[in-house]
Amino acid sequence: MRPRFSEPPMRGTMRSRKSLLPDWDAMYRMGTPPWEAPGPAKELVQILDEGLLKPCRVLEIGCGTGADAVLLAKRGFEVTAVESSPIALERARSRAQRAGVLIRFVLEDIYSFGRHCGAFELVYDNGFYHYARLVDLDKFLDLLWRVTQPGSYYLTIAGAPDPSIQDGFPQVSEQSLRFELGRLFQCIQLRSCRLHTFHRPEGYLAWACLMQRPIIQRA
Ligand SMILES: C[S@@+](CC[C@H](N)C(=O)[O-])C[C@H]1O[C@@H](n2cnc3c(N)ncnc32)[C@H](O)[C@@H]1O
Repeated sequence: MRPRFSEPPMRGTMRSRKSLLPDWDAMYRMGTPPWEAPGPAKELVQILDEGLLKPCRVLEIGCGTGADAVLLAKRGFEVTAVESSPIALERARSRAQRAGVLIRFVLEDIYSFGRHCGAFELVYDNGFYHYARLVDLDKFLDLLWRVTQPGSYYLTIAGAPDPSIQDGFPQVSEQSLRFELGRLFQCIQLRSCRLHTFHRPEGYLAWACLMQRPIIQRA
């Protein structure tokens, strides 16, 4: 049986919204969590191959076991990868060591880190926004505002609607994604893709959304 992404929420309270989130560290401790992929996200590889993003200072939010962080470092990005699960971060450090790349790994809650880290040229998450929006979208947008500056890019990979999926994988409609992230960013590119995981090799429908914070021309 495939593992579920989270338990069904209780209704009506903030506690219920938090229960939409998995117990991240516990799920890593149990082995391979349901979101874990055999390698870097194929869509990220494609975006880099297409040259849409040039090497720069990048912040990865919720890097998990580091497959995407290692890819970015191999492609010349200066990577800061933040993760709150000690087990995931330990695995990410080993992966980076095996790959022979230098990455600044930070074991911290991203909302705390975001208060003092300053702005990055690129912010990336694979599977963070689609959870964060369920609990407190405003808090997540405030974080994105703090860690970017005018001209910064934000790339997110987020679950897309798929009625055949009933295992708790988060799903965001195109309209919600454009509306929510459009409060801070201009959409550069929104593509449909698939997220392949160990537990679901055929993959989940997902969005890869590249956005940019507008540069305001002062008169
Ligand atoms: C859905 S997983 C995705 C992990 C990774 N990006 C991947 O694709 O495998 C979300 C990740 O965010 C981490 N996370 C959750 N809340 C966090 C927080 N407040 N600060 C930092 N990391 C967090 C979790 O531990 C988990 O590794």
